[in-house]
Amino acid sequence: MTIPFVDLKANSPEVRQEISSAVQQAIDDGQYILGDQVAAFEQAFAGFCGGRHGVGMGNGTEALHLALRGLGIGPGDEVITAANTFVATALAIAYCGAKPVLVDCGPSDYLINVDLIEQAITPKTKAIVPVHLYGQPADMVSILEIAAKYDLPVVQDACQAHGAMIGDRPIASFGTAACYSFYPSKNLGAYGDGGMVVTNCDTLAERIRMLRNYGQRAKNKYEMLGFNSRLDTLQAAILSVKLRYLAEGNEQRRAAAEHYREVLSDQADLVLPYERPGVTHVYHLYVVQHPKRDELAARLQAEGVQCGIHYPTPIHEIAPFQSCRTVPDGAPVATRLAGRILSLPMYPGLSDASIDQVANVIDQSSPVAIAG
Ligand SMILES: Cc1ncc(COP(=O)(O)O)c(C=O)c1O
Repeated sequence: MTIPFVDLKANSPEVRQEISSAVQQAIDDGQYILGDQVAAFEQAFAGFCGGRHGVGMGNGTEALHLALRGLGIGPGDEVITAANTFVATALAIAYCGAKPVLVDCGPSDYLINVDLIEQAITPKTKAIVPVHLYGQPADMVSILEIAAKYDLPVVQDACQAHGAMIGDRPIASFGTAACYSFYPSKNLGAYGDGGMVVTNCDTLAERIRMLRNYGQRAKNKYEMLGFNSRLDTLQAAILSVKLRYLAEGNEQRRAAAEHYREVLSDQADLVLPYERPGVTHVYHLYVVQHPKRDELAARLQAEGVQCGIHYPTPIHEIAPFQSCRTVPDGAPVATRLAGRILSLPMYPGLSDASIDQVANVIDQSSPVAIAG
């Protein structure tokens, strides 16, 4: 039996019917760009995430880009982020004309190492962009303490962390803004591209609303060099329905992670995900480490278990970012992890039987078996 890496079509017939009705409603309403359905979803999602304002965008990359632009980040500035993230985090910084400064991650939680952030700060530093990688919140309390000391805004890359919490607070209630992606495979995924900035800052929300809509405050009132990056109305209609099932989907992901832990914890060569105390990890991805990652991945694929690598190349080894400063030099933890990490199947509805099957393949792939 093939086990997919994600199952994008797994919605129940009832949910599909609700989505079809919402799409039909949007078509009938005739507001195909922005309008009431986008506004309703912006409000609902921002509320769910702990923010007052939601500004829908074309995708998560643009959410990060326009949040940073909205804060005035520009050429000559430096922005601190993690060395191990999806390339889009660094691209968004570069689109502003600023330079990413890449901080190494912790060896167990894969999140930006907060003990290194101060070493990365220079007079040119204008923002910190922590990434809640794989669905686990970074240490926002420490990051906000450092940010306050140097008077820096904190723009969270929450593209993998819809519904993640720190204590009993959703992550967007921390920091200056949180940026989300609705790429189809995300915990809250559209049927195409989408993104959102969630913020509690009135002026930032206002600026981002203009930035995403050609720089207009009102029709033909241009106040800044703007862009065209709006959340599509049809996607907003779909996402409004799917939002109602997000918390339940996250619970199912957490249950799947728990079952993985039960059946994989005796595998000596496998490092399982570490959950930081006091946070709710929403397991966008279930990432393990293995010393012979490529051999294990090949074995899993051969046995019908689809897996992925997030990400095989740290940012400082990707062509446009090779000149970026790393802290410490070479970001050794992120660099080493890139050769060891493997993402196993993870999605709401992933059955215990499928997880058992993954565990069986891993069990038969001990280093000795792999070497043979
Ligand atoms: C950590 C991270 N940042 C940024 C993005 C960019 O989002 P999008 O693909 O919607 O542009 C993604 C998702 O793809 C992501 O996982």
